Amino acid sequence: MVSPLVLILRLTLPLILFFLFQKQRTLKNKALPPGPRGLPIIGNLHQLDNSSLYLQLFELSKKYGPIFSLQLGLKPAIIISSPKLAEEALKNHDREFSGRPSLIGPQKLTYNGLSMSFSPYNQYWREIRKTFVAHILSSKRVSSFSSIRTFEVKQWIKKISSHASSKKVTNLNEMLTSLTSTIICRIAFGRRYEDEGVERSRFHDLLNEFQAMLASFFVSDYIPFLGWIDRLNGMHARLDRTFKELDKFYQEVIDEHMDPNRDTSNGEDIIDVLLQLKKNQSLSVDFTIDHIKALFMDILLAATDTTAATSVWAMTALIKNSRVMKKVQEEVRYFGGQKNFIEEENIKKCSYLNAVIKETLRLYPAGPLLVPKETNEKCSINGYEIPSKTMVYVNAWAIHRDPEAWKDPYEFYPERFISNNLDFLGQNFELIPFGAGRRICPGIHMALASLDLILANLLYSFDWELPEGMTKEDIDTQVLPGLTQHKKNPLYLIAKNYNNGN
Ligand code: HEM
Repeated sequence: MVSPLVLILRLTLPLILFFLFQKQRTLKNKALPPGPRGLPIIGNLHQLDNSSLYLQLFELSKKYGPIFSLQLGLKPAIIISSPKLAEEALKNHDREFSGRPSLIGPQKLTYNGLSMSFSPYNQYWREIRKTFVAHILSSKRVSSFSSIRTFEVKQWIKKISSHASSKKVTNLNEMLTSLTSTIICRIAFGRRYEDEGVERSRFHDLLNEFQAMLASFFVSDYIPFLGWIDRLNGMHARLDRTFKELDKFYQEVIDEHMDPNRDTSNGEDIIDVLLQLKKNQSLSVDFTIDHIKALFMDILLAATDTTAATSVWAMTALIKNSRVMKKVQEEVRYFGGQKNFIEEENIKKCSYLNAVIKETLRLYPAGPLLVPKETNEKCSINGYEIPSKTMVYVNAWAIHRDPEAWKDPYEFYPERFISNNLDFLGQNFELIPFGAGRRICPGIHMALASLDLILANLLYSFDWELPEGMTKEDIDTQVLPGLTQHKKNPLYLIAKNYNNGN
């Protein structure tokens, strides 16, 4: 039996050590940016809530400035909220700010950081990123998937058209998530779930659970000696269960691709490219099936969710702004001509549509805090000393509303992008919906190819109205908690078939 003295020591020792450590740290970290006072052990954790973290951080930045500190349990964190400081961090100190924190959920679900998004900044990440950019996400590869995108968007337009004929209300959240996941499933692993009810819902449930686990709060991430709480409240069991389910799914897809009798007439998909990488073993690491699974996960997660969320926000903004809706519809109908579909080559001419997409990504960035980063080594920024292993949140949502960078920042006004070269490719730090620096989103071409085609055709083929009894003020902009900013309440609209004279 454990003696009472040992028991008391066991319970109190971590606290004593923590206070000693904390005292030493505050002495050392005199030059950290300012921030709200926290409590012992938990720091500022009790002041934050996962559901709209970027909004709370935005409010705090008004009080503490464009760079401020938080203490997340035992982890120090800084928050950057202005274009100038984003440039300082993501351009002048890009290498130091290119790490990712090692958190329980992402670590487990990415086979210990083998995905590109959650890998630490190391040789493997550099090699895999280069390979992806050259072979999987290049503009040539993205163009090669044009027929898949076109086919799927056409099928989907037919479906909405049938809603229009029967005056049925369309749930755009549901329709757009289903479309973007169908496109990515075909591009990534050649499968079409649209009509396979059970399989499709299994796939969607898996993706949802995956998202939930990635964004979940694990005590062990911030206060390791209280990690037993995660076991008690069932978080570890849930994570293990999700991991096993996903692993089984990835394995099925890989087995299908390794079957010598598989029909390959539809061309190479992304799993084929990854299997080829394994066969060639041209990277400096031993490239295994676990690497393929982690990278497969990257594509599924990064591509489906962000594109669907952005399309929903674009339609939300447009239905609330009838002037912009009318102007962009006139443009796509002008360049689309008298057909029943506007093709990719004609969409390229639509500069106002391009401005509408930029304005949507400014006001509703799909990743409002980008993906959390961690400093690789200590560095100095704006006169402050940031220690190595500090978590870094770049608040794109706040930066995109900075009144010093944007005139009338809360207004949806696409004209602000006409007649200038302001872009989101990582050179203009007031507009960073895809991030900037070494970790900038490598899927920008793929994202835009889908966004352009989907939105242009939604606007080309239909006029959009609010359901009876609703006004545009009833359309809210509340968001769901998670890494990706989704509209919480579905956007319900009525489509009316528009006759393009075809
Ligand atoms: C509207 C669509 C999209 C948006 C708004 C978006 C946004 C982002 C953001 C904010 C990041 C984090 C950047 C950082 O940490 O600084 C990111 C990373 C990433 N995105 Fe995207 N993304 C989109 C679509 C896509 C697509 C279609 C793909 C690929 C198929 C993709 C693949 C990735 C990957 C692999 C990373 C991790 C990069 C790394 O850590 O090195 N994204 N994206």
